[in-house]
Amino acid sequence: MDGRDLVRWVKAIGSAGAAQGLLSVRAAWRRRRADAAGLPTRGTERARVPGPVLTVEPGPGGGVVRFTRSELRITVAVNGAVFWAWDGAGPEPSYGLAGPAPEPDPRAVLEPDKDGAWRVVSERMTVVVSRHGAVEVRTPGGVTLRRDLPPRWWEPADGGEARWTQRSEVGADARFFGLGGRASGPRLRDGTYRLWNTDPGHAFGPGDDPLYITMPVQTVVADAATHLVFHDSTWDGSVILREGEEGAGSGHDRAGTTELRMDGGPLRCWVMVGTPARVLHTWASLTGAAALPPAWALGHHHARWGFGSEQEVRRIVGGYHERGLPLEAIHLDIDHLDGHQPFTVDQERFPKLPVLAEELRRDGIRLVSIVDPAIKADPGNAVYGSGTAEDAFVRDSAGRPVRGVVWPGEVVYPDFTRARVRRWWGGLYEERLSQGFAGFWHDMNEPVSFTAFGESTLPRSARHDLEGRGGDHREAHNVYALGMARAAYEGLRELTPHERPFIFSRSGWAGTQRYGGTWSGDVATGWPGLRASLSLVVGLGLCGVPYAGPDVGGFDGSPSPELYLRWFQLGAYLPLFRTHASLRAGRREPWEFGAAVLEHARVALVERLRLRPYFMTLAHLARRTGAPYVRPMWWGAPEDRALRDCEDAFLLGDCLLVAPVLDPGTDRRAVQLPRGRWYDTVTEKEYEGPGQVLIDAPLSRIPVLARAGAVVPVRGDDGGLALEVWAPARGGTGGGLVVPDSGDGWEEPEIERYVTRWEGKRVVVERDGEDGPGEPSYPVRVRGLGT
Ligand code: GLC
Repeated sequence: MDGRDLVRWVKAIGSAGAAQGLLSVRAAWRRRRADAAGLPTRGTERARVPGPVLTVEPGPGGGVVRFTRSELRITVAVNGAVFWAWDGAGPEPSYGLAGPAPEPDPRAVLEPDKDGAWRVVSERMTVVVSRHGAVEVRTPGGVTLRRDLPPRWWEPADGGEARWTQRSEVGADARFFGLGGRASGPRLRDGTYRLWNTDPGHAFGPGDDPLYITMPVQTVVADAATHLVFHDSTWDGSVILREGEEGAGSGHDRAGTTELRMDGGPLRCWVMVGTPARVLHTWASLTGAAALPPAWALGHHHARWGFGSEQEVRRIVGGYHERGLPLEAIHLDIDHLDGHQPFTVDQERFPKLPVLAEELRRDGIRLVSIVDPAIKADPGNAVYGSGTAEDAFVRDSAGRPVRGVVWPGEVVYPDFTRARVRRWWGGLYEERLSQGFAGFWHDMNEPVSFTAFGESTLPRSARHDLEGRGGDHREAHNVYALGMARAAYEGLRELTPHERPFIFSRSGWAGTQRYGGTWSGDVATGWPGLRASLSLVVGLGLCGVPYAGPDVGGFDGSPSPELYLRWFQLGAYLPLFRTHASLRAGRREPWEFGAAVLEHARVALVERLRLRPYFMTLAHLARRTGAPYVRPMWWGAPEDRALRDCEDAFLLGDCLLVAPVLDPGTDRRAVQLPRGRWYDTVTEKEYEGPGQVLIDAPLSRIPVLARAGAVVPVRGDDGGLALEVWAPARGGTGGGLVVPDSGDGWEEPEIERYVTRWEGKRVVVERDGEDGPGEPSYPVRVRGLGT
């Protein structure tokens, strides 16, 4: 046990009681013993590189290049992505892919290049394989985006899992994003980023890495093009990033480098190239469309660890109502459970949960339940009983169920990598539905076991089914939460076939958007935590997970009124808008911070409600196109260097630019604008981009700008849909998309396209239809006309 472990142990005892502290010491010893007995020891290792090329076998989409000590298979797929893999690996099985790998594009085939190299030419990129196994990705125009050096493997002499390293170079101007949810982004600076889903065990800030969701997904932005690389291995690893440097025209550029070091799994990757929108679209076609949330999930949520009773829930809801503040969901944390056990209810504190749920629903408020994966190892626990009968729980290498420690005490863990277990787990949500819950909040699914020292998760030697292939926790760990989300999603599809499941999960992996969203986890209360909140949402969006948001106000402690307000104002423009805090944290209700904060928070809440149709449209577009709601400033102009480095603002869809206040004492802030005219949505003042402008940011609001020509679907005064149109620049045009959604269910609304232009002294708006332009279907209000 080192110093940090000791601190953790003392904290564990503090937060969970002495009994649990002692359990966590036992769990840590048990974990260590299990791994000593069940993990292969790494003896001597032999290093290997591919060696020189021997033969080439062209085939549909590419072919196979054989080297003396490995082979490389390369395939251009019909969705425009390119797959390549070493040592005979194929694209399947994969937890990342949504279905079978896309078909090869028969037009592409390996052909000889210069100096004994081979190349595959596709519409979006050319891939060149050198004689020694370096792989280069070039734009159709011939600019090199990425150069993978020949990989290197370290093979244990006794034939165990090989470790491998893939070092790559990118342009001197390239910037790195992604790798899952990182607190220190969204632009990932030089450093080492671990790929191992981790509960940091305390409220985190920008210095904490890794966090709950890691993904071997890099989005790299450079002048020549944007590309995304997915290294499809679920094993533990790390990525070492170093941005390049441009020699200011001296010709002495230094390339950026990225080095991936993995403990195992196949060395295979998917690469997609193009504009950011194109790249994310291809990524979504590979890993799956983002689940569409029900409309209420785009409203304001209030959560709290420690409501403690039905009365307290009613008091909070009453507080919102008395003050006329919109609220659409209340989340119940582990304190509503009987002894913290999932799928139970504390009957003393929540004796009539279904009645409460029904009452809330009449007021338009849904109840969301926390669901932790670990089940109390207690014969009196019904889920433990049915899970044991199903043989659902993860076992150690000697065949005994693995025991860990979480909130209920000693627990066992369902093996979500087994189809049968997922079906059993999905069925458990029936109990939650019968209590009146409408949505689900997956937590502690990295998965966590409180251990006094060592890693706070399962032993690496723990056995998993891995869809029948068999393997251990080293391979299953990172996809544990993904399997849990899938189990819940598929279960809910059967239990409530007419409703869209609402699930968001603390942990996840590539593809987790298929089942739902995520949230920040325990972000530390403080200005750095506020900044980290934005970083996480932007970064996850660039990994294909569009629905996310932070604990507004921060998880621990007590925010100052100013910090709380600024967090609230940012949260109002993020997909998941939820206040939440820890058991012992200070209050988080908007009225607890004084009259001024309450009035400003009300404005944010009302505006969020007004923008509901826009959020709903963005949700549909995320599902259909892969474009996240929250986009980095460079989304439409990745070649704009200033935008590429801008991390304190974001684009909300095509129409809005949100510039949150991230520092105390601010009443004005600099905003880096993309090209074109922008209007301050409150003052209607005009700004011209590209370039930096100073915009007022009094406590009452954060700057939100609308793009000239934007057509924004909003909620009109009568509650119906209306169009807010921002005047195009003189002589210019504009437009926007509207996806009218019924709020829930599976009906596929048509995407409506609107165009706007000047006609003499008037701005006209028309619906773009198949039989020519038509009258808009909704009331229109034109703004930004000045005097
Ligand atoms: C974890 C979650 C947090 C939750 C708490 C109790 O820390 O991240 O949101 O309130 O557990 O369930």
